[in-house]
Amino acid sequence: MSLTNPDKQKCTLLIVDDDTLFGDSVRHLFDDENTVVTTANTVGAARILCSQNAYDVVLLDNNLPDGSGLELMPDILNLNDHAKIILVTAFPTFDSAVKAIKNGAYDYISKPVDMEELQTTVERAFQASRLEAVEQVARYQNDKQRREAVLVGFKNPQFGIADLIMRAAASTAPVLITGETGTGKNVIAKLIHHSGHSVTSPIININCAALPETLIESELFGVEKGAFTGATQTRKGLFELADGGSLFLDEIGEMPATLQAKMLTALEDRSIRRVGGDKDRAINVRIIAATNAEPEKAIESGRFRKDLFYRLSVIRIHLPPLRERLEDLPDLCAHFIEHFAPNRRVAIPDYEMERLQSYHFPGNVRELRNIIERCLILHEGTEIYPSQIVDLHSPPVPAITTNGSMNGHSGDVVKDALSKGMTLPELERQYILAVYERNRNNIARASNDLGISFSTMKRKLQSFGVR
Ligand SMILES: Nc1ncnc2c1ncn2[C@@H]1O[C@H](COP(=O)(O)OP(=O)(O)OP(=O)(O)O)[C@@H](O)[C@H]1O
Ligand SMILES: [Mg+2]
Repeated sequence: MSLTNPDKQKCTLLIVDDDTLFGDSVRHLFDDENTVVTTANTVGAARILCSQNAYDVVLLDNNLPDGSGLELMPDILNLNDHAKIILVTAFPTFDSAVKAIKNGAYDYISKPVDMEELQTTVERAFQASRLEAVEQVARYQNDKQRREAVLVGFKNPQFGIADLIMRAAASTAPVLITGETGTGKNVIAKLIHHSGHSVTSPIININCAALPETLIESELFGVEKGAFTGATQTRKGLFELADGGSLFLDEIGEMPATLQAKMLTALEDRSIRRVGGDKDRAINVRIIAATNAEPEKAIESGRFRKDLFYRLSVIRIHLPPLRERLEDLPDLCAHFIEHFAPNRRVAIPDYEMERLQSYHFPGNVRELRNIIERCLILHEGTEIYPSQIVDLHSPPVPAITTNGSMNGHSGDVVKDALSKGMTLPELERQYILAVYERNRNNIARASNDLGISFSTMKRKLQSFGVR
């Protein structure tokens, strides 16, 4: 009898039975590379094992030499309330079965044991235990996000952002968040969800740029078995899975045109139909969408439906770039220092903070976060010096706008190209690569900024030998 279970990843089964022959045959049935089986012959031995290990499933005989399984059950559950206990009783009566379940048994089976029934029952218990573990992780992550969902910055009442966020949280209307890359669109989406929903409400993220066009529809609306080759099972879509919570549609500007029409119908009718299905299903989901493209331009160029835009932007929150809200720098810096070095007392000297305020932050808050993280690694003392990391005197990297033009610097680019006698394809190549790099090699965002399609961008990069 081993008192430790070093392999935590595997499923764990404890058999408590004084009939060693029975114990051995059950052990043979389940002992494989995925399952660790342990046996105990008495209540005493089982108690010691349970005080030292957490078992997923306990197969517990009711008649043991030193006591009854039924009485041991509360002790096991006290030590590990996630254990699924299957009580094995000689002659189960209705009353004893009810008592077993009342005491916390997951299930019970009768002796003489039918091995097939036993196998099915134990496997079902493992399945339930696995599902519970997955749900627990999801709940933990949700909880963690919730605790972290505090508004940092947006102090300037002139923008009215903080107020708008609170209003959005209090309503169920669709929200559209816009702003340059790194301004905090994802952060604000989560904040709106967590401020307005209960702990158990899900928030499901879907990145419209990351899913292939062929998958995005079934991913969102679900699919009925047999709808197309490969649809071997009926599957709920994200709309259904987000029921009672929020669906965060990130990079909405990348949503394919066909899907934009279906999305509009879903939002207007507040119902969806699974791919291959013939039934409309009501949805109760709050939609939060985000894009770093300027929607007005995408509408003008015909890439985005005007009607969908109006439907999505009942509440529109535009996050200004960090260079336009430098008053938020001290709070954001303090937030990131606390995040990356919770146990260190670190400050940024005033003169350094002033220097930082002269920087243009092309990568916005994401860039500031990276700067602070790097400073904390490089400077071990009680002060950090961001100016040593960023080149504060470099000419501002032109702010990339969504139509791909570079604010205020297009003249320089052209001048440079002229002086070098650059060919048009070379100018195009350099410009595309600059925008690609500025978007941290994210094809979707870069193509968005350049006003070209995802596939054109991919093709261009391939032709430059980049991807
Ligand atoms: N107000 C904020 N408070 C705390 N952290 C923030 C804030 N805004 C942004 N950040 C941090 O900056 C980083 C970028 O934020 P986020 O991902 O929300 O930006 P985004 O606008 O969605 O960017 P993209 O357009 O590239 O998707 C994240 O690491 C986030 O934690
Ligand atoms: Mg984002």
